[in-house]
Amino acid sequence: MTSWWDRHMVPRLIRYCCAQPQIMKARSHIVPLAKGDVFELGCGGGINLPFYDRSAVRSFAGIDPTEALLNDSRRLTKEIGLSANICAGVGEDIPFASHSFDTVVTTFTLCSVHDPAAVLAEIRRILRPDGVALFLEHGAAPDADVHKWQRRIEPVWKHMAGNCHLTRPIGDAYQSAGFQTEVLGNRYTPKTPRPFAWIEWGQARP
Ligand SMILES: C[S@@+](CC[C@H](N)C(=O)[O-])C[C@H]1O[C@@H](n2cnc3c(N)ncnc32)[C@H](O)[C@@H]1O
Repeated sequence: MTSWWDRHMVPRLIRYCCAQPQIMKARSHIVPLAKGDVFELGCGGGINLPFYDRSAVRSFAGIDPTEALLNDSRRLTKEIGLSANICAGVGEDIPFASHSFDTVVTTFTLCSVHDPAAVLAEIRRILRPDGVALFLEHGAAPDADVHKWQRRIEPVWKHMAGNCHLTRPIGDAYQSAGFQTEVLGNRYTPKTPRPFAWIEWGQARP
């Protein structure tokens, strides 16, 4: 049973923080690379949908555990005329068959899952052997002083922000899970307090 805060305030916080212009710009670097049968983990309110290259996407499926956000996603797919399979679910137990997708997209989601290793194993399972996982995530900063503040803030922040962690590795997490990882970009997001600002985007192949 989730709390009142998680049901009502966290979706609002996600809608606001994840739609900042500097975050939207970062999405434009990675989401348009998706092609074929595409699965988005933690699709939330469908904020990435306008960034997909519709001519390259054959089919689209997405899951998220937050029902309030999924309704936004379903409404948006109807508005833009995209036939999509959007359902409730978690990355630790993805409700699709093995080797069913060419591309898996995750943006700002691995920070919030309960078991990142289990989620990465599930992403490997559902990807075709020549498939690719595209990621854009925030996480552990490379600078020691920023990382120190991330460790201090995280215990409080994760309770306020839907289990969002600040200290999780990004590209390195895919590497440790056995993916061949190529980081295409990283930076501190402008106009954002540094403990929340480090982002990386890239692609990982099983
Ligand atoms: C910070 S929000 C990001 C939403 C969206 N991906 C974006 O780019 O704006 C984190 C998302 O992860 C979802 N989430 C949390 N735990 C999850 C899990 N175990 N499996 C899949 N998604 C999860 C949340 O419901 C939320 O939509």
